[in-house]
Amino acid sequence: MKIADIELPEKPLILAPMEGITEMPFRIICKRFGADLMFSEFVASEGLIRDAEKSIKKLNFQDKERPIGIQIFGHDINSLVSAAKIALETNPDLIDLNCGCPVKKVVNKGAGAALMLEPEKMAKAVSEIVKISDKPVTVKTRIGWDFNSINIEDIAWRLQDAGAAAITVHGRTRSQMYTGEADWSVIAKVKNNPNIHIPIFGNGDITSGEVAKQKLQLSNVDGLMIGRAAVGNPWIFKEVKAYLANSQSDFTPSLSERVEICKEHVAMSVDYKGENRSLLEMRQHYAKYFKGVYNFKMYKMRLMQAQTIAELMEILDEVGEAFNV
Ligand SMILES: Cc1cc2nc3c(=O)[nH]c(=O)nc-3n(C[C@H](O)[C@H](O)[C@H](O)COP(=O)(O)O)c2cc1C
Repeated sequence: MKIADIELPEKPLILAPMEGITEMPFRIICKRFGADLMFSEFVASEGLIRDAEKSIKKLNFQDKERPIGIQIFGHDINSLVSAAKIALETNPDLIDLNCGCPVKKVVNKGAGAALMLEPEKMAKAVSEIVKISDKPVTVKTRIGWDFNSINIEDIAWRLQDAGAAAITVHGRTRSQMYTGEADWSVIAKVKNNPNIHIPIFGNGDITSGEVAKQKLQLSNVDGLMIGRAAVGNPWIFKEVKAYLANSQSDFTPSLSERVEICKEHVAMSVDYKGENRSLLEMRQHYAKYFKGVYNFKMYKMRLMQAQTIAELMEILDEVGEAFNV
């Protein structure tokens, strides 16, 4: 399948943008295990315009990550256009507009999911970005603001008309935040609407190959986006691909592989953002990398308290040895 001229495999698997998680080191690992398309974490348009270090850093990627999109968010159309221009200077494969972030400090300013309350403005933002972009412009959004205002079908049509090259639909409303279940029947309605011709990707609650297959059968979407289930488990892309191909997947990473990938993630993170930030920020990953490992708690505590990367790596080696890798 294709997004504009970008060639992707049939039913591609996409790594969801996740702030604080899908930085370059984690993306490189997910790519290795089969992510077909990836996005940066969301980047504040206002931050890009003001040359804020945090925002500029999020534009970093390596060629081996391609195809890759830079995701921007904001409420002011002029700022979004200026931010898209800055992002395009790094030569990504596409630009994505975030219209799904539910977080208060984002929606209170009229950005993220708040744009679902202003479909005309959302479409205008897309058409203005399309005008200045030599790369396809995509949108990631939700099914509506709340259960009384599920308007994704109307929005999808407007976005297509505005020149969006593809849309990813997270099957929750803004008011659900990350609770409850993603409603794939609404995603299916968008995908199967005869007026929609651009690719529609589905997102929400894909946790295994089996679930991925069910969601595909239910919705017939053009590709699947996976977020939380990839954290500490980048192998999920391999597992889902095997399951979609054979309706079975006996792929489970060995403990030694988990130790090895976690160490590699730490090492890349140190290169990318230094020892201190890595010590802090890698903490959210350990419990996920070693989920289900009997008696891991004690090691987790030590990993959380490690004062240096050398100490951290030693503890990870011990994890491998303790569990007889
Ligand atoms: C920690 C975290 C950070 C996120 N950051 C972003 C983001 O920067 N941009 C975005 O479009 N969605 C973001 N999301 C939403 C995910 O991309 C995805 O839509 C959501 O997690 C549902 O998919 P899942 O059930 O596969 O996790 C974030 C989600 C989480 C849990």
